[in-house]
Amino acid sequence: MALALRLLLAFLVIGSCIAADNIDLWPMPQSVSHGTQKLYIKKDITMSMVGSTYSDEKSILKDAFQRMVDLITLNHVVDGINPSSSVLTCVNIVVHTPEDELSFGADESYNLTVPTTGDPLYAQIEAQTVFGALQALQTQISLPGIAYWLEPAFPPFTHIKCQQCGRPLTCRYRMRHYLPVKIIKGVIDAMAYSKLNVLHWHIVDEQSFPIEIPSYPKLWNGSYSYSERYTMSDAIDIVRYAEKRGVNVLAEIDVPGHARSWGVGYPSLWPSESCREPLDVSKNFTFEVIDGILSDFSKIFKFKFVHLGGDEVNTSCWTTTPHIEGWLKNNHMNVSDAYRDFVLRSQKIAISHGYDIINWEETFNSFGDKLDPKTVVHNWLGEDVAPKVVAAGHRCIVSNQDKWYLDHLDASWEGFYMNEPLKGINDTKQQQLVIGGEVCMWGEEIDASDIQQTIWPRAAAAAEAEFTSNLVIYGSMKFVCHSQILICHAKECMVALPSV
Ligand SMILES: *[C@@H]1O[C@H](CO)[C@@H](O)[C@H](O)[C@H]1NC(C)=O
Ligand SMILES: *[C@@H]1O[C@H](CO)[C@@H](O)[C@H](O)[C@H]1NC(C)=O
Ligand SMILES: *[C@@H]1O[C@H](CO)[C@@H](O)[C@H](O)[C@H]1NC(C)=O
Ligand SMILES: *[C@@H]1O[C@H](CO)[C@@H](O)[C@H](O)[C@H]1NC(C)=O
Ligand SMILES: *[C@@H]1O[C@H](CO)[C@@H](O)[C@H](O)[C@H]1NC(C)=O
Ligand SMILES: *[C@@H]1O[C@H](CO)[C@@H](O)[C@H](O)[C@H]1NC(C)=O
Repeated sequence: MALALRLLLAFLVIGSCIAADNIDLWPMPQSVSHGTQKLYIKKDITMSMVGSTYSDEKSILKDAFQRMVDLITLNHVVDGINPSSSVLTCVNIVVHTPEDELSFGADESYNLTVPTTGDPLYAQIEAQTVFGALQALQTQISLPGIAYWLEPAFPPFTHIKCQQCGRPLTCRYRMRHYLPVKIIKGVIDAMAYSKLNVLHWHIVDEQSFPIEIPSYPKLWNGSYSYSERYTMSDAIDIVRYAEKRGVNVLAEIDVPGHARSWGVGYPSLWPSESCREPLDVSKNFTFEVIDGILSDFSKIFKFKFVHLGGDEVNTSCWTTTPHIEGWLKNNHMNVSDAYRDFVLRSQKIAISHGYDIINWEETFNSFGDKLDPKTVVHNWLGEDVAPKVVAAGHRCIVSNQDKWYLDHLDASWEGFYMNEPLKGINDTKQQQLVIGGEVCMWGEEIDASDIQQTIWPRAAAAAEAEFTSNLVIYGSMKFVCHSQILICHAKECMVALPSV
């Protein structure tokens, strides 16, 4: 019977004008080579794992393979078989290690080869870990309708991804919209196509506290509405969904600034009824709540890092609220000292829950020499802080807003492509401290209706620049899309818009 799924004709037309060494794949792997023969894909192509030491108990590969097949059949013409052509009947995946936990720095390298001959003719994917094999499968589905399975059209074909290329990416600001779980999953799908591997989820912000915290259930009162909330099981669902696509989830609670919503359920977290942020530094209760949140987080967000924010802290409420002013006096502190102590105390709490910490660069700029050695400093203001951070021996994530903020609609894709996170860092050891780059989508002016078209394709330009670069070989996160997933009521947005 042998119905073969024919590669989209358009590909072959493109193919006919591609010279042999010009293959349109996105993101481009480190090395690609191919022949000129056409290859058809069998409609009921199968997957095997002959030679693997990995058993796929969580069905990571089986599901990824099915997604790939579904996408191919969704968008490709099924044609009668051409008896004179080769037909790809199977993809054999060889994974060399049994582990299936997605950890920081997991080896995501893979080799993909498609030979010209064989009976049956099968493609072979070889990888150290299941997550490398997953990347290979996801290469096939990158940019559906444009690039996938283009390569096997010209066997013999080999495709080698560098050992651990690339670094991570983020996003953030004032007034944020709620994004339904389904939309977040759509962003994760697109991240997987572009090989972005960390989703930085800035869950909580000054306007809204959308996530359920069982330890302090009234925090949820700070959400915009009952329908604009995430339950613990929503969060677990998102983390599992992401993991199955090779994407880690980095959760952020931003303290002590940007935390006004916390006090809706627990007003004593506010300095006063009329002065509502930053969080009250003088009360132990504030730190008990942070401890409760991070304790609940640690049951769900298993990534090595948690993000503690620390940016844009306006301490004027601390000096204008009598009980805090008195506390500062008694403790011989000014507001800068109090900000520092707040951040350091929060860091200790996060570390006690097993996390390494990420803080925005203001913490480094204000008291860099006091930060815990486990701190990763997250740049956003400009491009000159990363060299200082790594020279001080700290790790760094680069997100300079002039180039890598997706909510800056005038930031061009060329700028996303050309941005160099290692600018000004010549020392190889220091370069290795730059553990990631992050593109940021802040939620002020987007919602579920336009988040995807605002993130893409510019985020994919940054992703490819990191993924393909031979220069970049860090044992680290690759790209994060920090989709700031927060809540905003239509009414409040309109009020707040002019100030953004
Ligand atoms: C891929 O192939 C290269 C060259 O043959 C080899 O050095 C490398 O170990 C292979 N990588 C994997 C993950 O199999
Ligand atoms: C918080 O919400 C609960 C119901 O979910 C309600 O009973 C309670 O009164 C609220 N508390 C505050 C301080 O708004
Ligand atoms: C608050 O916490 C600090 C540090 O753990 C402790 O020294 C202090 O006694 C506590 N204060 C109160 C009122 O519990
Ligand atoms: C800091 O907060 C105070 C009180 O909320 C406000 O009046 C002031 O404008 C803020 N300063 C800045 C620089 O935003
Ligand atoms: C706060 O006090 C420290 C010394 O403890 C000093 O270095 C710093 O300049 C002071 N900051 C402000 C804003 O007064
Ligand atoms: C880093 O290298 C570049 C290019 O070689 C050079 O222009 C620059 O001065 C160097 N920077 C430092 C800090 O050494």
